[in-house]
Amino acid sequence: MEKLIRTKVKDLLRQEPGKDVLAKGWVRTKRGNKNVSFIALNDGSTINNIQVVVDAGKFNEEQLKKITTGACIGVTGALVASLGNGQSVEIQAKEIEIFGEADPETYPLQKKGHTMEFLRSIAHLRPRTNTFGAVLRIRHAMAFAIHKYFNDKGFVYLHTPLITASDCEGAGEMFQVTTLDMKNPPLKEDGSIDYSQDFFGKQTSLTVSGQLEGELGAMALGEIYTFGPTFRAENSNTPRHLAEFWMIEPEMAFYEIEDNMNLAEDFIKSLVKYALDNCYDDIKFLNDMFDKELIERLQSVIKTDFVRLTYTEGIRILEESGEKFEFPVSWGVDLQSEHERYLVERHFGKPVIMTDYPKEIKAFYMKQNADGKTVRGMDVLFPKIGEIIGGSERESSLEKLEARIAEIGMGRESLEWYLDTRRFGSAPHSGFGLGFERLLLFVTGMSNIRDVIPFPRTPKNAEY
Ligand code: 4AD
Ligand code: MG
Repeated sequence: MEKLIRTKVKDLLRQEPGKDVLAKGWVRTKRGNKNVSFIALNDGSTINNIQVVVDAGKFNEEQLKKITTGACIGVTGALVASLGNGQSVEIQAKEIEIFGEADPETYPLQKKGHTMEFLRSIAHLRPRTNTFGAVLRIRHAMAFAIHKYFNDKGFVYLHTPLITASDCEGAGEMFQVTTLDMKNPPLKEDGSIDYSQDFFGKQTSLTVSGQLEGELGAMALGEIYTFGPTFRAENSNTPRHLAEFWMIEPEMAFYEIEDNMNLAEDFIKSLVKYALDNCYDDIKFLNDMFDKELIERLQSVIKTDFVRLTYTEGIRILEESGEKFEFPVSWGVDLQSEHERYLVERHFGKPVIMTDYPKEIKAFYMKQNADGKTVRGMDVLFPKIGEIIGGSERESSLEKLEARIAEIGMGRESLEWYLDTRRFGSAPHSGFGLGFERLLLFVTGMSNIRDVIPFPRTPKNAEY
C-alpha cells in the first residue's frame, strides 16, 4: 500500500468518505466480539474519537490482543461513512501498527469516572482523559486569544523578569532565589545574611507580579501587556490559589480608572466569546459532564453590563444583607470570597467591578483619592470565582507616591528606578492583572484551580 501521511482525527471527522487514510493515536476503548472490534481512537486534536472497525478475520489474533485501552497505534484504512450514530465517518482498518502497548493490569486510566483527586495524583497521565484534553485545549485557545486581543489593539508584549529584587504587591509572599549554602551562609557583622556574596549580589526572589516593570514599558511604549508565570508563597490551600500561576498584566499610559474598567470588561467578554466560538465541542463536553449551566453562564456574561460599585457601597449592601458571614464585614476589612460571591451571585446576579478601596488594604502604587482614605483600585468579581482581576489607576505624582512609600515603611532603595517614571515625564496610567487560571476556572466550569493547569504547584506539592 502507498505510504500515507497521518491525518489528525479532528480533520478526519470533517472529511468526506472514500479515501484511504492514516490515523495515529491512543486507544480509548475497544469493544466488539470474535468477529469484529470497534476501537475508539483519540489523538488529542479534538474531544471526539474516530471509530476504527477491525474485521478480526483479517488480523493476527495476538496482535489484536495488544490493542487495549491506553495503547498507542497507527491505523491505515478506508474512511467510510459510518452507520453507527455519533459519527459521520469511521475507518475500516487495513493495517494496524502498534507503537506502544499499555498493560491492562497496570494502566491507571482503565475505567471511566475517576475522581478529580485521583486524576491529580496521576497528573502525568491525566491529559489523556477527555476532561483534561478539553481543559488543555481551551487553555491553549485562551492563551492564543489573549495575544490576539492585545496584538489587534496594538499593545506590545513585554517580557518582564521572573527573578526580581522588588516585592510589587508588598505582601512579603515571595520565594527566595539564592545560590548561597543554606547550611553555612556568609554572615555580616550583625549576624544577618550577607547577600552581597549571593549570585546577584543582593537578595532576590521569584516575581509576584510583572507590574512595576510593566509600568516602565507603558511609560515608553504606551500600551503593553505581560503574560507569564507568577509566584506566590502564600500558604492558601484553597480551590482558587496556586503557588505558581500565570498572569496577564496590561499597562496603559493615559488611561484613567474608567478606561481601565472598560478595557477589563471588554477583554474578558472577548475571551469568553472566543472560547464559545472556537472551543464549543470541548465546552459542551464540560457542560454536559460537570456543570449544566456552563454554556448559559458564558453566554450571559458576554451580554451583561458589569455592575460598577464602590467598595463603600458594597460594604453597605453586605451589612444590610442580614447574611451571617464567616468573616464579619465592616468598612475597612478586606473582602473575602464569601462576600464577593454574595454580591455577584446573590445580590446582583452578574459580574461586579468594585472600586475605591481603603488604602490600607491595597498596594502602595494605587492612585490616592481626594478623600485621603481610599485609592483608585478596581477588582473584577465573577460568579463562582470571586476576584478574577485586580488592578488600579496608578499614583502618578512623585510626591504622593514617595509619601505613601514612607508611610507604610517600604524600603525605597530598591524602588528608585520605579520612582524615575514619576520623576521624568510622568503621566496618568492604569493597568490590571488577570489570573489566567481563574479565567480558565470560569470558562471551563472546573471547580478547582489545580484542574486547569497541567502541573499544579500548591503548598506541599511540586510533583513532576
Ligand atoms: O490582585 P493581584 O494580587 O494584583 C496584582 O498582582 C497587580 N500587580 C496586578 C496589576 O495591577 N497589574 O493579582 C491579580 C490577579 C488576581 O485578581 C487573581 O485573578 C490572580 O491574579 N491571582 C492568583 N491566581 C491564582 N493563584 C494565586 N495565588 C493568585 N493570586 C492572584
Ligand atoms: Mg487582588
